[in-house]
Formats: sequence, C-alpha cells, structure tokens
Amino acid sequence: MQLRSTFMGVLASFFWAPWSLGAAAEAQTSGGSKADGGLQKMDFGKTPEGMPVELYVLKNGRMTVKVMTYGATITELHVPDRRGTPGDVVLGFDNLEGYLGNNPYFGATIGRVANRIAGGKFTLEGKGYALALNQGPNSLHGGRKGFDKVLWKAEEISGPDGPAVKLTYLSRDGEEGYPGHLSASVTFTVKDDDELRIDDTATTDKATPVNLTNHSYFNLAGPASGTILDHELMLAADTYTPVDDTLIPTGEIASVRETPLDFTTPTRIGARIDQLKGDPGGYDHNFVLRGGEESPALAARLYDPKSGRVMEVFTTEPGVQFYSGNFLDGTLKGRGGVVYRKHQGLCLEAQHFPDSVHHANFPSIILRPSMTYTQTTIYRFSTR
Ligand code: BGC
Repeated sequence: MQLRSTFMGVLASFFWAPWSLGAAAEAQTSGGSKADGGLQKMDFGKTPEGMPVELYVLKNGRMTVKVMTYGATITELHVPDRRGTPGDVVLGFDNLEGYLGNNPYFGATIGRVANRIAGGKFTLEGKGYALALNQGPNSLHGGRKGFDKVLWKAEEISGPDGPAVKLTYLSRDGEEGYPGHLSASVTFTVKDDDELRIDDTATTDKATPVNLTNHSYFNLAGPASGTILDHELMLAADTYTPVDDTLIPTGEIASVRETPLDFTTPTRIGARIDQLKGDPGGYDHNFVLRGGEESPALAARLYDPKSGRVMEVFTTEPGVQFYSGNFLDGTLKGRGGVVYRKHQGLCLEAQHFPDSVHHANFPSIILRPSMTYTQTTIYRFSTR
C-alpha cells in the first residue's frame, strides 16, 4: 500500500500538474490541469472540538464527487441523466452542522465493524470484548463514535485513473471497545467513464474484527424526487442471511426464491415491499453475493426509469446490505431544505455479513497483525 501511494504520488506530479492544496480560500478557485477534470480542496467548517474539516471536489468527465474528511463521507455525487443533465444522486446535508447532528450515516465510511454485533460482545483469542451499545441491545456501525464520526487525514494521490483522495485514520487500541491499533485508509477515485472507485485497506497490531463499507443513500432521480420505490433493482444474490427481531442474523443462509427478496431479475423495489414484516418495514437485508473476492464482481444494478440513470455496483465483498431507507421518517431536512421521508433513498452497502463474529459459517472478519485488509467497491453510472 505504501509503495502504491508513493508511486501514485510520483505519477500525480507528471499527469496532474500542481494544484494548490494550500489555503482554503485559494483552493476554492483551483482546479486540475485537465480541461474536464480536477480536484479542489475547500473548507467545510469545524468540528465541535475546533478541528477544521476539508471538502474535496473530484471531477472527471461528466462526474463530480464531493468527499469530506469528517467520517470520510461522500456528500454529493453528480452524474448526468438520459438527457445529459447532471444531477446529485445521494442524500446529504447542506453543511457540516447537518452531518454533526441527527445523521443516519449519510454517505459515511462505516467502521470498525459495519452493521450489528449481537449484544455488543465477542470473544477473540480467548479474551472477551464489550463494545458500546448504540442500538437497543446491539452495537451498530462501529459504536457511539464509529469511523463515520471521526476526522480522517487527507492526501491527494491523483493519478492516470483520475482525481483521487486517500483518507487515513488511526483507530486506537480500545477505541469503542475494539482491540488493537487499526490503521485504516479509504481512497476515492473518480474515473472518466462515470465510475467512482472506493479502495479500503487496514492493518492492525492485534487481532480485531474489521468490516468497512460506505453508507451512501442513493436516489437516482435526485434526493428531492420522492421515494426510490419505482427504481428497479437486480442483485447478484441467490441467498440471504435471515435475521431476528433485532436484525441479528440467525446464522441460516436461505434462498431468496419465492420471497420478496428475489432480485435475481430486475424488479421494481416497491412491487413486494409491503409483504415484508417488521417495524418500520422495508428492505434491510444482507444478500450473499455470487462472487468476486479477487477482482470486483457485479453485485447490483439499479435503474431509475424517470431519469434513465443506471448504477452498477461491483465489489470484492461477499455481501451487500440492501437497506431501503426505512428509518427515514420525515423528521430530517436535507440539502436544499428537502424533507427526507421513508424510502427516499436506498443503500447498497458492500460488506461482510452482519454479526460475523458470532457465526463460524460466515466469511471471517478477523484481521490479524500479519494480514492487510482490502476491499474495493465500484459504483459505475450510465443511462438508458
Ligand atoms: C442498517 C440499518 C440501519 C441503517 C442506519 C443500515 O446499514 O442495515 O438497519 O438502520 O444502516 O442508518
């Protein structure tokens, strides 16, 4: 990883001639040397502790992605519709205050462990660990102050693939109850073929569970356009992991056939959503992907008939959590004053399975000092 970023840094100086990454005011007007692309850095306010937050604007071809250092968060993602008109396709807030407040993980990087750990407890190498409980009896998305609520360090590593920013964070031994110093990185690259690539890495000095993901809420018609129920979804998954009332997997790997979870052929999301039980109701399931592992494989294809936008998700991960924004309840006002109601956005979180620490039959999420954790997920956009 170290070698790779050094190499990219050298390449950057050849292909992406000097951008000023100095003072925010200057940077507001700086751009890339390529006519249709570039990277800008801006000021995005301060954390309650007074630490400055930076916003990086990555542009390439027809795509613009904004990423901030608080939570390694995607704040905006603009791609063209079928008429060629660009528009934002993710939910978010106007300013940092929005993200610091009541925020259901909009666009954030989730860690150290995405999704739930039952009882917030696990045993590793004979030692018991107790995590912060932040959702009923369980630990969700890394605990009270997960990776979505910390400040990451940014480094511009743009190369021939396009503008890129690498965010790094050192999670201390014992943070949120997890063992070992974990050194994590998330690199966002915007390629000129309407593709956002996210590469995650992590290393540790003690065995620890790790399961990182990005928690963007997509609405391909635009966040102000209503619900995602008319989007059509295809998932490359024949099975899923059923859960109990607190959304903890039972351990079973069940077939999606003849259930409302069968998205093996493109299906309107709203078509069968009412058949799902539970409160608040909707999709919130981990789908077991057919494969990939080494190179990113197709996990999902999402299509919005209104705008014509298509988003394909490719990943090296074994699972994808399809969450249909069930807990959005109209109490949050997002960017431009838009009220976010139930099902106004959806997440396709590429990750290992929820509560993997308690299920020996799930792919392991234990990272050891001799290993490097990597995961790559690509969001590719097109139109129909
Ligand atoms: C989970 C949901 C949770 C949501 C939080 C998703 O990843 O699967 O159960 O409510 O994140 O916004």
